Amino acid sequence: MAVLPINKFEEKIVETVEENSVVVIIGETGSGKSTQLSQILHRRGYTRSGAIAVTQPRRVAAVSVSRRVAFELGVRLGEEVGYAIRFEDRTSEKTCIKYLTDGCLLRESLSNPELNQYSVIILDEAHERSLNTDILLGLMKRLTKRRTSNFKVLITSATLDGVKVSRFFSGCPVLNVPGTLFPVEKFYSTERPTNYVESCLKTALDIHLREPLGDVLIFMTGQDDIDKMVSRLEDSIQKLEEGSCVDAIVLPLHGSLPPEMQVRVFSPAPPNCRRFIVSTNIAETSLTVDGVVYVIDSGFVKQRQYNPSTGMYSLDIVQISRVQADQRAGRAGRTRPGKCYRLYPISVYNEEFLDATIPEIQRSSLAGTVLYLKSLSLSDIDILKFDFLDPPSRESLEDALRQLYLIDAIDENGQITDIGKSMAELPLEPSLARTLIEANELGCLSEALTVAAMLSAEVTIRPSRSKNKEKKRKQPFSKLPDGCGWGDHIQLLQVFESWDHAFYDPSWCTNYELQVRSMMFSKDVRNQLSQIVHKIAKGPLDVESGIMQNKSDKNYRKLRRALCKGYGNQLAERMIHHNGFHTLGYRSQLVQVHPSSVLEADEDGQLPDYVVYHELISTSRPFMRNVCAVEISWVQTILRKLEKMNIHKLSSGGSDTLESHEIAKEGNLTLPVERANTDKKSDSTDSKIQAARERYLARKAKK
Ligand code: CDP
Ligand code: MG
Repeated sequence: MAVLPINKFEEKIVETVEENSVVVIIGETGSGKSTQLSQILHRRGYTRSGAIAVTQPRRVAAVSVSRRVAFELGVRLGEEVGYAIRFEDRTSEKTCIKYLTDGCLLRESLSNPELNQYSVIILDEAHERSLNTDILLGLMKRLTKRRTSNFKVLITSATLDGVKVSRFFSGCPVLNVPGTLFPVEKFYSTERPTNYVESCLKTALDIHLREPLGDVLIFMTGQDDIDKMVSRLEDSIQKLEEGSCVDAIVLPLHGSLPPEMQVRVFSPAPPNCRRFIVSTNIAETSLTVDGVVYVIDSGFVKQRQYNPSTGMYSLDIVQISRVQADQRAGRAGRTRPGKCYRLYPISVYNEEFLDATIPEIQRSSLAGTVLYLKSLSLSDIDILKFDFLDPPSRESLEDALRQLYLIDAIDENGQITDIGKSMAELPLEPSLARTLIEANELGCLSEALTVAAMLSAEVTIRPSRSKNKEKKRKQPFSKLPDGCGWGDHIQLLQVFESWDHAFYDPSWCTNYELQVRSMMFSKDVRNQLSQIVHKIAKGPLDVESGIMQNKSDKNYRKLRRALCKGYGNQLAERMIHHNGFHTLGYRSQLVQVHPSSVLEADEDGQLPDYVVYHELISTSRPFMRNVCAVEISWVQTILRKLEKMNIHKLSSGGSDTLESHEIAKEGNLTLPVERANTDKKSDSTDSKIQAARERYLARKAKK
């Protein structure tokens, strides 16, 4: 095995760690930070007084790096070396090197705030600036002051501004591990391609035909484009004249790839064969693919962005930052001089790209984070004054507080409630955690567990196709359940129950075009959630949480009610039937039920008056994904709470004196309250809707 740059610095690293409680280590991607640091400290005896935790922002990286380290140490994964990601724990009593997602470490700190089981915590890939790593940075700062002996924190990064982090940790040392990067020649295109998949394809084929052997790494934005590119590239290569070039293998690489596919990128190409690896930004810094000599950089990345004033997520394809572009190029120079083909002009790189990527904390919904920090209930932590490397906006903190208040996780003074404390113990987003608690009260816990598990496992149900295609299905006589007109959550429940009825037969899933892997995962998640709920339940639990084949409308109604409670202001009121899409008004904007939803108009063409939704996401237009019909009387409770709300009190812990009605006007949920109270469409509602619609159309015209 080649000696990695980190290993050459072993003495220096150990010496610095010995003398300091916090050390920042900066080293080029592939220098061995993720795989070697833990092993070095293990060799030097740091695991005698506790385990070493290494956090990863990505689940794939936690799994793949731990597998690699177990292999290098010649131990079985899950024994001395293991990993933990949400809903999957492969560690044991023996584990002394534990790779875990940053979210998992946050969760562990809930039950053990001092994290005493660890002698060393390595916050790896800090340059990714994931939301959870940013919070961990703040917590570690606090913890190093409290745990003064036997505790070391290492922060590693490929590109992070070391000085900034060092300043954050009162001037801790920064070790730069020089890498062995070979020069990378960069080529720019003269203009932005109109179709970057085509352009990538052409460049890839050019390399294959003209350039000497060496693997090609292609950076694309997401799974869809990657799949498209993989099949197009395979086709084109097959059509090339035999003998005109060497053999080729095309491999996809992204976060939702099944594990057996992921490991394929780590085995080198067979002799006289070129590999094409078509990847998301995961290969920028998280996973090192060896053998790459050529990089094709589309210049784009898919980024989730949250807008706290609308509660809307958008999944945008945005330009990468200069730091990212340089990282991508660097992947070509690890083994010998390489080439990077940038599918954008140099002027775009210089003038349009941002210096660095915006940290996730500044583009995420913070409800889960704020609940987490509140539930730590550490007297020295005030959420709004929490020590962040880069603080989130006040607006997004307030958005989080508002949401938490509406679902009873905090009281009107911003103090965490008992409900909130229980919610924080569930490894779920606040809305689903709240739903489970309410479901327990209402007597439909079993159903809610199923829905939460199906959503967490990201099971997707394909909308039923046109009649013609329907015939080709293997089970022509039965269709998947359709949610009985109540929406997607009920459908998810019914699908799982039908699968249960089929004794969890994998072929049942295949017949209905459901991914076996995600269905299996949802079953597993359901079991785990059920165990956790049993552990934290204070009062008596509603059920033995086994599956019941109880398809009564009454039960669905209870479940919908629990969901309504959990989603809080993720709520929309029906407005108009527009262009064949279901259109609902929400916060004075027009949003629509996603076409994949089972929610359909009834015989009279009527949609439910109110729905709650799991996610509001703006793609071609704002869509609600996973919607559930709810009743007006349940909605009114939420609206009443909203009226009482005082955002200043919520954030300052109850010390505010402003009149609450003044503040209510500030709440930015503009559901027409008149409508809710009278159940009649008033003129003012109509004009509001009209105005909203006009604004929307105007915005659209501008685009
Ligand atoms: O973290 P950093 O980018 O500094 O490097 P690393 O992930 O520790 O990778 C060091 C070496 O281990 C590289 O040559 C990788 O190709 C190799 N590695 C591997 O073969 N399989 C993995 N799952 C992870 C790393
Ligand atoms: Mg790494």
